[in-house]
Amino acid sequence: MALAGFVVGLLAAILSLLFFSPADAAGGVGVNYGRVANDLPDPASVVNLLKQNGITMVRIYDADPGVLRSFANTGIKMMVMLPNEKLADAARDRRYALDWVRSNVSAYYPATQIHALQVGNEVFDSRPDLAWSLVPAMDNLQRALADLGLADAVKVSTPVGFAAVAVSWPPSDGRFRDDVAEPVMRPMLEFLQRTGSYLTINLYPYFAYADQRSNAISRDFFLGNPNPGERDPKTGLVYYSLLDAQLDATYFAMDKLGFTSLSAYSGETGTPASGGRHGHHPKPAVGSLLTARNGDPPAASKENAQAYNNNVINRVLSGRTGTPHRPDADMDVYIFALFNENQKGSGPDDIEQHFGLFYPNQTKVYEFDFHGGALPPPPAPAPSSWCVANEAAGDARLLEALNYACANGADCSAIQPGAPCFEPDTMVAHASYAFNSYYQRNGRASGTCDFAGAAYVVYNEPAGTCDPNTSWCVANEAAGDARLLEALNYACANGADCGAIQPGAACFEPNTMVAHASYAFNSYYQRNHRASGTCDFAGTASVVYHAPKYGNCVLPSKTSIEQATAKSEVYAAI
Ligand SMILES: *[C@@H]1O[C@H](CO)[C@@H](O)[C@H](O)[C@H]1NC(C)=O
Ligand SMILES: *[C@@H]1O[C@H](CO)[C@@H](O)[C@H](O)[C@H]1NC(C)=O
Ligand SMILES: *[C@@H]1O[C@H](CO)[C@@H](O)[C@H](O)[C@H]1NC(C)=O
Repeated sequence: MALAGFVVGLLAAILSLLFFSPADAAGGVGVNYGRVANDLPDPASVVNLLKQNGITMVRIYDADPGVLRSFANTGIKMMVMLPNEKLADAARDRRYALDWVRSNVSAYYPATQIHALQVGNEVFDSRPDLAWSLVPAMDNLQRALADLGLADAVKVSTPVGFAAVAVSWPPSDGRFRDDVAEPVMRPMLEFLQRTGSYLTINLYPYFAYADQRSNAISRDFFLGNPNPGERDPKTGLVYYSLLDAQLDATYFAMDKLGFTSLSAYSGETGTPASGGRHGHHPKPAVGSLLTARNGDPPAASKENAQAYNNNVINRVLSGRTGTPHRPDADMDVYIFALFNENQKGSGPDDIEQHFGLFYPNQTKVYEFDFHGGALPPPPAPAPSSWCVANEAAGDARLLEALNYACANGADCSAIQPGAPCFEPDTMVAHASYAFNSYYQRNGRASGTCDFAGAAYVVYNEPAGTCDPNTSWCVANEAAGDARLLEALNYACANGADCGAIQPGAACFEPNTMVAHASYAFNSYYQRNHRASGTCDFAGTASVVYHAPKYGNCVLPSKTSIEQATAKSEVYAAI
């Protein structure tokens, strides 16, 4: 018996490894199918609409028999909800919980792929009187699922509104509100951990952006468009979206209660495509971004909703479910909402009615795409900080630290003799290269740019940073003006972009032969994709790996055509 038990346990362990390989675990994107409306298509039409659009996960706000039957044998994963009104009964009465699960979950499973049961909806905000019933109800429903053999198939959780996180910036200050942290969140997190579930948090960066009194939150940061990033001054972690900052505030709040490995999923996120008022929202709209500011579209606009939701979808489908603080976390996300719902909020102008991806007539409110297959790789965010050697540490200490960095994961091949970053051959340059490599490879984590005081972090790219993977073509001054002019004319006549060195253009100054020739040679070289032999010009040019600068003119490391294409790809992706 003992041996058989061991074998079964081992098999279970192997199977769980197979099923939860990191590639699988990353996460999926679903939609919230709310039905607070009187003009929505019937559930069978909704199933077709979802299939046509590649949407494979759906959350509903009840366990409606008609909806659950329509979704049978579709392969679409369903998340059902026990409404707030039933919470007290489910907490008080195990029999009630069992009956509820029997008639609302197991009656449809497995034909309808119910994989999660949400207990109540934003209880702290909508029914604070029921906060105490929450974990007991979750526990009773979990036991009911176990009694019916569904404990592994169906995970129990509850959507928590982000207002439960008392401090959200900097993310490392994140903590749960005092009134819920110990009495409710701690036992809930214990329950979620014990049952292999996850915290469900509803995240609406839109409200933080729309209600800000200052311009502290930029539109790109709100939307998750490419942007320079915001640094948490305490951890040094850099954030590229408000969604990540809010998720990490949640993770730091969980850390403070001792739950450092549980994942947080986003049960709802989204942003409205129109509307001029916030019906339910507690804060007044005065001073908010409901109207356009700085030439940006209004906070509630199709442009913003399209960018925000597509950024979220693309990000999760490309596997980037981690955050700066929890880079390996997985996450499912449910976009709010599938349809515009005409019975929500305080009237047709209330943003609450305009969160939908589709109008009730099933046309898209704006373009979006739930198929991950053809996504271009995400643009790598440019580094936002660099690690440099402190010259004052002296060569002996720098050498020691350099050897440490090279032996512990820094890529030091480029500073070997003959390699692209060997020049300038100084201790400070080599140490800076190695320290920065170590720092970047460790994700710029705090403490990875110290080297016993021999290094420090800077937030502007140091001049002449060597990139062994990018190179430029520059004129060799020693060739003399006559030979350079001849080569310059050749380059400009054969495809180099020489517009920028015409009088009055950006790189006319400095008006020297070597600067103009360098500009033209480099353009020719980049446009030919830095192919070998394209930076020679009869011996008047050579390749360098440090970004060259002539006066205020910085030579491009790509052709402007490539840059324009790369940019339009970024925009096409959102
Ligand atoms: C639970 O199932 C019953 C029986 O089908 C149904 O009447 C009830 O509406 C369901 N509950 C919810 C919250 O949908
Ligand atoms: C669907 O409804 C929207 C909003 O009312 C409208 O603008 C659009 O023209 C409608 N599309 C069709 C095909 O009827
Ligand atoms: C250069 O490219 C190689 C291969 O793609 C990569 O491993 C390396 O990290 C790159 N180095 C830098 C400094 O970007």
